[in-house]
Amino acid sequence: MKILLTGAKGMLAADVKITKPEHVSLIETDVEELDITDIDAVDTFCNQEKPDLILNCAAYTAVDQAEDDKETAYAVNVTGPKNLAQTAAKFGIPFVHVSTDYVFFGNSCAPMKEDDKCDPKGVYAKTKRAGEIEIENAGGKWLTVRTSWLYGLGGNNFPDAMIRLAKERDTLTVVNDQKGSPTSSHDLAEALWKLIALKSTGYFHFSNSGECTWYDFAVEAISLAKEFNFLPKEKNIDIQPVTSDKFPSPAPRPAYSVMSLDKYAKATGKAPRSWQEGLKDYLKMKSDLTLDV
Ligand SMILES: NC(=O)c1ccc[n+]([C@@H]2O[C@H](COP(=O)([O-])OP(=O)(O)OC[C@H]3O[C@@H](n4cnc5c(N)ncnc54)[C@H](OP(=O)(O)O)[C@@H]3O)[C@@H](O)[C@H]2O)c1
Repeated sequence: MKILLTGAKGMLAADVKITKPEHVSLIETDVEELDITDIDAVDTFCNQEKPDLILNCAAYTAVDQAEDDKETAYAVNVTGPKNLAQTAAKFGIPFVHVSTDYVFFGNSCAPMKEDDKCDPKGVYAKTKRAGEIEIENAGGKWLTVRTSWLYGLGGNNFPDAMIRLAKERDTLTVVNDQKGSPTSSHDLAEALWKLIALKSTGYFHFSNSGECTWYDFAVEAISLAKEFNFLPKEKNIDIQPVTSDKFPSPAPRPAYSVMSLDKYAKATGKAPRSWQEGLKDYLKMKSDLTLDV
């Protein structure tokens, strides 16, 4: 099976490549090889390469920067998936896309289901939702997997940032009034391969299971960083919980951003492992590969 992978230099794509099943050959492209905002380029590429499926890991992911860069965010998160989905439909192949928990603006305390009402706030969230709708309307077979709080070996991420800060400081202040579910991009990549093998279509939610605040996430990351020798075991780091107003950000963030994983668990027969297990495995992998944070 030949799969066109877009956004191949990104964080999720790094794990998509690592976890690729043997029978799959990937055509790896990032913006230099294939700019997804260019419909002619997408069409010509697919005509030449004749992939059996398109897997889109390309996105504009700078949530706060998007507030001042609406055009680029729109082009990459709306026009891009539209071009890919329409081209996939034209060539009669499935299109697989990745979206975000931010299409909701959770303020309740019930995990969001796939068909819950969307209410995106902020440019990034709105463009990701508009991209989802373009895919629905493209007329082909599609699978859109929404995920949250992603971290992985292939990109800058929250646990690495906390551990780096803890190397330099004795005190960290971390937001404790936003809840979500951290997701290992390795686990998400494996989930994508499972859903592709099952020929799943429509919306699916995937994160690691359980929920926490950014503060809880930081506390766990620092503790595991000591276990895997990224930080000296004896170093005392005072992690202080604070409210979001201490860190005002250009784009709004939902207070409760946990997604229901029931549909994924039912389809694959297995619930995702806990966020703590995913994080432990991530730091163990970094340690085994002698990578720094
Ligand atoms: N990161 C998170 O916390 C998070 C949370 C929820 C959902 N998601 C979703 O998960 C998916 C993967 O995210 P990620 O963190 O792996 O993203 P990422 O690391 O930012 O990777 C995206 C890749 O797409 C490339 N790209 C940008 N514009 C392009 C274009 N016009 N044509 C082709 N490629 C282009 C980027 O290149 P440049 O770097 O050069 O721009 C980058 O290599 C995205 O759909 C994102 O919305 C992410």
